[in-house]
Amino acid sequence: MLQSFFVLQNQYEDLARDEVISISKSYDPKTNSRSESRLVILKSKAPWKKIASRATFVRTCGNIVDTFDDISKIDPPIPKPLSFVCRTINLSSKKLSSSSLERQAGEVLKNRWGSKVSLSNPHLTVYLIITDSEQYIGCADYTIQPKLPTKAIKHSHELDLKLSRCIVNLSQLKEGKTLCDPFCGTGTILLQAESMGIKSVGIDFDKIMCNITRKNLAVNGFKSKVINSSYNEIQNIKNKIDAIVTDLPYGISSRSSVSPKKLIKDFVSVVPKRKKLVIVYKKGLDVEEISKAKKYEIYRHKSLTRVIAVR
Ligand SMILES: C[S@@+](CC[C@H](N)C(=O)[O-])C[C@H]1O[C@@H](n2cnc3c(N)ncnc32)[C@H](O)[C@@H]1O
Repeated sequence: MLQSFFVLQNQYEDLARDEVISISKSYDPKTNSRSESRLVILKSKAPWKKIASRATFVRTCGNIVDTFDDISKIDPPIPKPLSFVCRTINLSSKKLSSSSLERQAGEVLKNRWGSKVSLSNPHLTVYLIITDSEQYIGCADYTIQPKLPTKAIKHSHELDLKLSRCIVNLSQLKEGKTLCDPFCGTGTILLQAESMGIKSVGIDFDKIMCNITRKNLAVNGFKSKVINSSYNEIQNIKNKIDAIVTDLPYGISSRSSVSPKKLIKDFVSVVPKRKKLVIVYKKGLDVEEISKAKKYEIYRHKSLTRVIAVR
């Protein structure tokens, strides 16, 4: 089985790594992963391009084709490309001259393949990925730009599009499965889910928010169902959904007198136990019911740190 590599952005490393692994697991539950520094290597039936088209925090990715000790002897076992370029990704603690490594590798491969080097529009990019424990050769024939949805109407309480995409991916759903966001607000989570082919159902007890969500879905041509109701509606649709992904209120809503902490507690108690649950809430509102969930903290500003909990 081919191995793929993902070099992560240097923000939210744990979250970024788990997102990549979760996407892969949604297609291949037997995914094998290892990581070092900002590099994740997967043994998975999921093609790297599929994972790359969904991942939020990936900088560079492709297939791992070989390892090397001596740059002058590299001979990756792949068909020769029409043109190529070599790029260094130094994730080690050593200082390296990237340009000299790339020049040396370029010379060796040009002689082996007879292909031309193209800096601007190569058919293949050969990555020299250096970590403290290994030196890999990676390859990618093009770069992937995830297709992101747009928003017609925004709101000060909305979750940003990137984080929304990431938490949808943590739910390990693939195309055709159904997600429910029972506190959908402006619909950011639904937009990201549908943009990746995941069906979704939104619930919000505020009619105005439901209408905003409907408009945001419509500008993207999306068809997720939006129900104007309390989150308890989830009990009536539980057999139609595969995971719950949501961003809970951070303060007391003008429409309810329930404290945000009590709301989380009550909400978690109605979530079907066997469904995957990914929730976002304000740090400090932790409740016993999710004490065993995997958690990530996202600092926004001095009065808002979000927690993402995955159960
Ligand atoms: C933090 S906002 C969600 C923001 C959303 N993620 C977005 O990007 O726009 C929480 C939402 O929960 C809704 N809400 C609050 N209490 C609710 C309840 N008991 N049942 C359903 N929705 C509720 C509010 O109307 C609000 O739109």
